[in-house]
Amino acid sequence: MNPSLQAVRGMNDILPDEAEIWEHFEDIVRDWLRRYGYRPIRMPLVEPTPLFCRAIGEVTDIVEKEMYSFEDALNGEKLTLRPEGTASCVRAAIQHNLVASHGPQRLYYHGPMFRHERPQKGRYRQFHQIGIEALGFAGPDIDAEHIIMTAALWKELGLDDVRLELNSLGSSAERAQHRAALIAYLEGVQDQLDEEGRRRLYTNPLRILDTKNPALQSLVEAAPKLADYLGDESRAHFEGVRMLLDDAGIAYRLNHRLVRGLDYYNLGVFEWVTDRLGAQGTVCAGGRYDSLIEQLGGKPQPAAGFAMGVERLLALWQENGQLPERHAPQVYAVHQGEAARRLAFRAAENLRADGIDVVLHCGGGSFKSQMKKADASGAALALVIGDDEAAAGEISVKPLRGDDAGGRQWRVALDALSETIWDSLLDDETDMEQK
Ligand code: HAM
Repeated sequence: MNPSLQAVRGMNDILPDEAEIWEHFEDIVRDWLRRYGYRPIRMPLVEPTPLFCRAIGEVTDIVEKEMYSFEDALNGEKLTLRPEGTASCVRAAIQHNLVASHGPQRLYYHGPMFRHERPQKGRYRQFHQIGIEALGFAGPDIDAEHIIMTAALWKELGLDDVRLELNSLGSSAERAQHRAALIAYLEGVQDQLDEEGRRRLYTNPLRILDTKNPALQSLVEAAPKLADYLGDESRAHFEGVRMLLDDAGIAYRLNHRLVRGLDYYNLGVFEWVTDRLGAQGTVCAGGRYDSLIEQLGGKPQPAAGFAMGVERLLALWQENGQLPERHAPQVYAVHQGEAARRLAFRAAENLRADGIDVVLHCGGGSFKSQMKKADASGAALALVIGDDEAAAGEISVKPLRGDDAGGRQWRVALDALSETIWDSLLDDETDMEQK
């Protein structure tokens, strides 16, 4: 294929075998979200660029270099493919008065996000998040709920090798004091910083603490810690979260270097991390963002949320060998001849109306080749319809799996078909359970 027609680098097709696993995962996640009282919201993929600049922060990797931005060809408006969901979700809530009219909201969204990062395993330019935003909640209880609910999801998915890291980013006044102390410290060791560190010294010194450069680790370790600048209120909030986590038996590590790559956070932030996915080990991350609603023009309301990376979680699920089996139809219908084909269409529609999954063979071919396809489909039963059946208005049913496969075959009238198929499918299920 001409390379210029292939998918954009870092943006993946999700082919049927994999997409079925995605759907299974999404079903589990939707049930889990409902159990905690979260309701769906769907936002556009494209938003005005200033929304992200203001929400995420001008001096962040995302806004500085990772956004897919373009101008609307008609009116020149600056637009961006959303790099994350929090800004859009908060914008939608403000625009439609959700919190003001209906009180605190527990919301979730699911879908693609776009960041122009260097693609590698676990890092893509189009990736998918399931995100949660709780708007209008001030107390540590909602922070704890978010962490406890994610822990419950890992348990349900059988993921036991993700660990929790926690930090408190305090209030903006506390961060300002810490920032001043940090800049003073970093100025003193300026000649030891790398180029990025020097560039960020006055714009975003907190991010220097998050550096991956091994040469800077000891310097960063000795830097003033935000934890030492937290006041009573921030400490009490953090302790409130930690108490509820302790009650729930959730282990965590305090990581004072956890600063997050988006500027809207305050107080508690967290990340769930695994060692099994190489460098891109953060599968879920979030925290509190009490100023964002006001910053985007809404009436001040506290809020907290998180998002998980679907590709990363699925890779981990796969690593753990927890994948569901491929979905097979229950029935595959084969037929030959004009009258048989017309009967096969009626039979298949009748079964589907009664809740049975049927693949109807299309494209002709001998009975032998059609039966091969029926077998390969994984169906439990085949409908076989030839001239004889068509003349009698009956359908032959042939088991393809289990003890009856290859042997018994029976004929039924069209109006008795659903009942016999259901009986046979349910018998199979009982046999499976007894084995
Ligand atoms: P984030 O840390 O930028 O936070 O992204 C959340 C998760 O999305 C990451 O932990 C990771 O699993 C996944 N992710 C991020 N970038 C990529 C990528 N390039 N390829 C694959 N997966 C990726 C946020 O986006 C915040 N909006 C989370 C939040 C919601 N905070 C409060 N509410």
